[in-house]
Amino acid sequence: MSDIRTAVFPVAGLGTRFLPATKAIAKEMLTVVDKPLIQYATEEAVAAGMDTLVFIVGRTKNAIIDHYDKAYELETELGLRNKTALLEIVKDVIPPHIHCVFIRQSEALGLGHAVLCAEPAVGNKPFAVILPDDLIYNKDGASCIQQMVDVYKKKQGSVIGTQTVAMEESDKYGMVAGPQLEDNISRVDEIIEKPAPAEAPSDQAVVGRYILTAEIFNKLKTTGRGAGNEIQLTDAIAELRKTEEIYAYSFQGRRYDCGSKIGYLEANVEIALLH
Ligand code: G1P
Repeated sequence: MSDIRTAVFPVAGLGTRFLPATKAIAKEMLTVVDKPLIQYATEEAVAAGMDTLVFIVGRTKNAIIDHYDKAYELETELGLRNKTALLEIVKDVIPPHIHCVFIRQSEALGLGHAVLCAEPAVGNKPFAVILPDDLIYNKDGASCIQQMVDVYKKKQGSVIGTQTVAMEESDKYGMVAGPQLEDNISRVDEIIEKPAPAEAPSDQAVVGRYILTAEIFNKLKTTGRGAGNEIQLTDAIAELRKTEEIYAYSFQGRRYDCGSKIGYLEANVEIALLH
């Protein structure tokens, strides 16, 4: 069993980039081929040994709560009609040993604030954060979060998923820099949220996968508003770095930025072709 048992899914964002599609439905419920984005994220966590899934939701996200609830009518109907394969698909959304916790983030104060909302459910153990917008697919092996769990086990410190991006894209990401320690693992000496290309410390961008020690909550409690006037997880990680070693891990696999229309389309086409 993995040391990392809890995964946090910050899903309270408004999804403005997909309006009008996301006027009434959560952006995390948009489908890639036949599954909502959020389910790719939860399956990644469950396959990596996590059994407590903490969703930080907003007012318009009830479809996510319903998706992870038992669908009595549907299951009964499918059972009566002997549609066993479909019944399994419905039941597999959430295996029976998994606990789901839903926490309302009543104000959209940023990713850092969303993660802090998870503290009562996480407690003082290390945990994963998965941003469902970043669909990461590794067709040849372990998922991104599984790879990061393995790095955590080896290093016993927080791990941030990273990838190389074009310098002119630095203002879309948290950007990190630090010396390489071994294949695909670097130490984080600097981390900055959405710097202009001229201020970016390197071309290494943070993707939506983190394994964090619970000390991050203490840092988040004193993190003021940063980029975009929001409480940024990146700023709390910069504080955490002063007291603990943090590792950047360049994962194996392909990331689709499903927060953008083009990334979402690419994910649909490429994952459909893999089916
Ligand atoms: C968030 C983080 C950013 C990270 C990105 C990865 O930004 O704040 O550091 O690089 O996710 O997708 P967002 O995309 O929510 O603006």
